[in-house]
Amino acid sequence: MSDARSGGGAFLSDIKTLRSRAREHIAQGAVTPGYHADRSVVLKLLNEALATEIICTLRYKRHYFMAQGIHAEGVAEEFLQHAQEESQHADQIASRITQLGGAPDFSPDGLASRSHAEYVEGHSLEEMIKEDLIAERIAIDSYREMIQYLGAEDSTTRRMLEEILAKEEEHADDLARLLEGIGGH
Ligand SMILES: [Fe+2]
Ligand SMILES: [Fe+2]
Repeated sequence: MSDARSGGGAFLSDIKTLRSRAREHIAQGAVTPGYHADRSVVLKLLNEALATEIICTLRYKRHYFMAQGIHAEGVAEEFLQHAQEESQHADQIASRITQLGGAPDFSPDGLASRSHAEYVEGHSLEEMIKEDLIAERIAIDSYREMIQYLGAEDSTTRRMLEEILAKEEEHADDLARLLEGIGGH
């Protein structure tokens, strides 16, 4: 008797094999033998992304409080919302790192050098918006590269990064419009 898998080229393992493999490697948590990406590279990339999100959270917080001081309430609210969303991204990434059996790096030592984007305070409202836009564009490029690198090797991480990337594009768009609104370019 032949089954669907005997023809070669099958990609589905039978349930019994899946179950016994799951029992064998249970200590590895969510990382099963079917995980094809290079885990140490993925963890390193995710920790860099985590540092980037923490730096972006801090920069937006600073800009939020400083913009309030110069009576730019509308812009300040946008900064605050971005700060909250970057912080959510950091949490999502940290959670995925632990799922993959790694440890999220929250250490303040070397945080700025692990981050892709920079922490720039900016003196005027226009400078703050510009620096945030630059940081978003850096984040967009680095997420795009990570997504490309992951391909089909780790689709869960890839999907999470795609979601985050969409949000960063939204942030960049918000900032471009704010810059236009205050007459900067
Ligand atoms: Fe983010
Ligand atoms: Fe962002």
